[in-house]
Amino acid sequence: MTKIISFSNYKGGVGKSTITEIFGFLLDRDHDKKVLLIDTDPQMNLSDKIRRTFNVEAKPKKQLMQAIEDQTIADARVTINDNIDLLVGDWQIEKFPQHVAKLPAQAQFYLLYTLTKDIVKEYEYVLIDTRPSTDIMTNNAIAMSDYVLIVAKTEQDSFISSQRYYKYLSEMQRYNENLKLLGVIQYLVNTRGSTDKKVMQDFAELFEEDVLKSIIRSSERVKTWGYYGITTNYAHDKKTMKMYQEALNEVLEKLEKRDEDVPAH
Ligand SMILES: Nc1ncnc2c1ncn2[C@@H]1O[C@H](COP(=O)(O)OP(=O)(O)OP(=O)(O)O)[C@@H](O)[C@H]1O
Ligand SMILES: [Mg+2]
Repeated sequence: MTKIISFSNYKGGVGKSTITEIFGFLLDRDHDKKVLLIDTDPQMNLSDKIRRTFNVEAKPKKQLMQAIEDQTIADARVTINDNIDLLVGDWQIEKFPQHVAKLPAQAQFYLLYTLTKDIVKEYEYVLIDTRPSTDIMTNNAIAMSDYVLIVAKTEQDSFISSQRYYKYLSEMQRYNENLKLLGVIQYLVNTRGSTDKKVMQDFAELFEEDVLKSIIRSSERVKTWGYYGITTNYAHDKKTMKMYQEALNEVLEKLEKRDEDVPAH
């Protein structure tokens, strides 16, 4: 069964697009899974990163906003390799709210779900990179997701944003009763910082066992990957990748456990 996961937070610059890209990369390379990456952010960071990493031009037949208007969303999809496809981001997606406003109120949260429901079945994992807001596009992403992974930095304002985001997710359950919090992944700004430690405690108190044990640390390698694409053979590549491999393995274990918890029908 397809698992649809949104990588989210109100807060910008916390590593959402980076984790989405690296998890997509690893689901292919280490786990041989079929993955669809969906870039809902007009900044198009995920699409740019994927193009750099896989060195593909990856021009879709139609831009995403046009494909949505034409109800042919598959035309915005490109093949990256045997396992990974990408719904390419589009800066014109800024027009999505006006487009959705023309629909009946009860359909406005479900346009992305409706347009993608046939294509998502082709994948084992669908990873959605969201923009740092809870606009109607994010609502659409959350309404079609089975899980949300909150990506958070160990900074106080990121904690507050995560707290608000959690409340927003519980409100979104009205529109998607299958929605579950997969976990909170912390991006540690400063390993030795006392504020970081305090914020980690705040996360542990609020989210308890939903906080992932794996932590993402600040790494020069990740910044370089952001610039040139992911590499695997340079110094520190393996060590840095291990941090994300551990996080992904923990996420996969959580997903497996959730499957076991679901009563058989
Ligand atoms: N582990 C890390 N170590 C160092 N830099 C990182 C790490 N993860 C992400 N970054 C850098 O932090 C910046 C923000 O990351 P990213 O774009 O993934 O965040 P985001 O949450 O998607 O941002 P936005 O909210 O704007 O979409 C990027 O320059 C990225 O290269
Ligand atoms: Mg981003």
